[in-house]
Amino acid sequence: MFCVSTAVIGSLQFGYNTGVINAPDEKVQDFIRNVTQERSGEPMEKSTLTTVWSLTVSIFNVGGMIGSLSVGTLVDKLGRRKCMFLSNILALIGGGLMGLSSMCTSYELIIVGRLVIGAFCGLCTGLTPMYVGEIAPTALRGAFGTLHQLGVVIGILIAQILGLEILLGSQSLWPLLLALTAVPAVLQCVMLIFCPESPRYLLITLNQEEEARQVLTRLRGHSDVEDDIREMKEEALKMSMEKKVSIPELFRNSAYRQPIIIAIILQLSQQLSGINAVIYYSTKIFRYAGITEAVYATIGVGAVNTLFTVISLFLVERAGRRTLHMVGLAGMTVCALLMTISLEILATSPISVLAILAVFGFVASFEMGPGPIPWFIVAELFAQGPRPAAIAVAGCCNWTASFLVGLFFPKLLELCQAYVFIIFLILLIIFFVFTYFRVPETKGRTFEDIASGFSSAANYMSPEGAIAMPVSPSSEKFPMTEMAA
Ligand code: GLC
Repeated sequence: MFCVSTAVIGSLQFGYNTGVINAPDEKVQDFIRNVTQERSGEPMEKSTLTTVWSLTVSIFNVGGMIGSLSVGTLVDKLGRRKCMFLSNILALIGGGLMGLSSMCTSYELIIVGRLVIGAFCGLCTGLTPMYVGEIAPTALRGAFGTLHQLGVVIGILIAQILGLEILLGSQSLWPLLLALTAVPAVLQCVMLIFCPESPRYLLITLNQEEEARQVLTRLRGHSDVEDDIREMKEEALKMSMEKKVSIPELFRNSAYRQPIIIAIILQLSQQLSGINAVIYYSTKIFRYAGITEAVYATIGVGAVNTLFTVISLFLVERAGRRTLHMVGLAGMTVCALLMTISLEILATSPISVLAILAVFGFVASFEMGPGPIPWFIVAELFAQGPRPAAIAVAGCCNWTASFLVGLFFPKLLELCQAYVFIIFLILLIIFFVFTYFRVPETKGRTFEDIASGFSSAANYMSPEGAIAMPVSPSSEKFPMTEMAA
């Protein structure tokens, strides 16, 4: 629990920096306007301000794409623990730049700071699920994996609360709000001193069996770790027979193609569900629905977000990943419809309760499955060899999709008005169908078992493209025939 808590500080950082820019947006925009006025004596044009502001918000995602894509190379060279340690340098630099922006009368520092912080968060979204997945006992891998998302949502909630005008969201304190990310960075560095390297990295990647045994004994709290060691050795043996897995190899090799497609679509199902349209713009949506205390309704979103992630934490090892993901997508579909209806009706009659309930239901359903599951399932779908490359690809797809939603949602909202959620509704239905037919259940199965499920499916693929799977206990949990469809 100590090691997992240390790692999820990275998740908290991702959440905090995702949410932090929303509350003080008007103050930061005033600052940008004033700086320009001071420099040139002329006020900044409204359209230029909008462009500078959009850049400030979205450059975070560009950093995220770069950071997430770098994870693959870094983790195998430096190890998981050292990578987490060093990534915090970026948090200190990014936080420092943003914190100093007002003092140096330079809004450019905020933009560069957001880029650096984005790169840091991109690393976090790969490093945390990977480390947590690799140190967790098989039976608790899903629950521990969900803690990453719990860190994210708590981070968002903290940012929403601290961003209130009466706290740090004021005219003078917003630079501190942006710089605060440096504090958890220092805390994580201190805590990491007491955390071991991932035993799977030690044994499978570095071939250090004795060290891996010691770490496992420490992590599990007893010395009966031979089952884990045996499973890792089998994986190491298989890996020694394969060449190193690069990103293009993931798409070329038939044993990896199926899981990488699943990993990518699951990331897309998370982002293109429209969740960040709600997280970023909930205040605007509530205002549109005629709610006066919109900021508090937004904090309500953060609270519901957190509550339902906790619920998912307890369900994920019982109900399974696949079921929860489908339940979540279905719930979101219904709520997207309700949101559309309520926003449309609300244009004429003030029954804002339905709009609030629909938004809360949307967020709650998201946290049942589409929030936590895509983040940790990638680590589960791949064995040690391809895992870093797969996490890099999946992470980069997630960040790119989130960038696109951030970029296009305001325009779409303008164009489609209340009907904007119909677009997400259609996408949600497509993702539901995909999950039903293609996503295997990974609950309670070892990495080895999951990976061999995919390789045997690839091997059994006949030239006509039909699959003839032998009936084995794992293939029963693995809807391969449906995958072939
Ligand atoms: C997930 C998403 C993130 C989103 C958050 C909301 O972690 O990756 O983009 O903001 O959930 O809870």
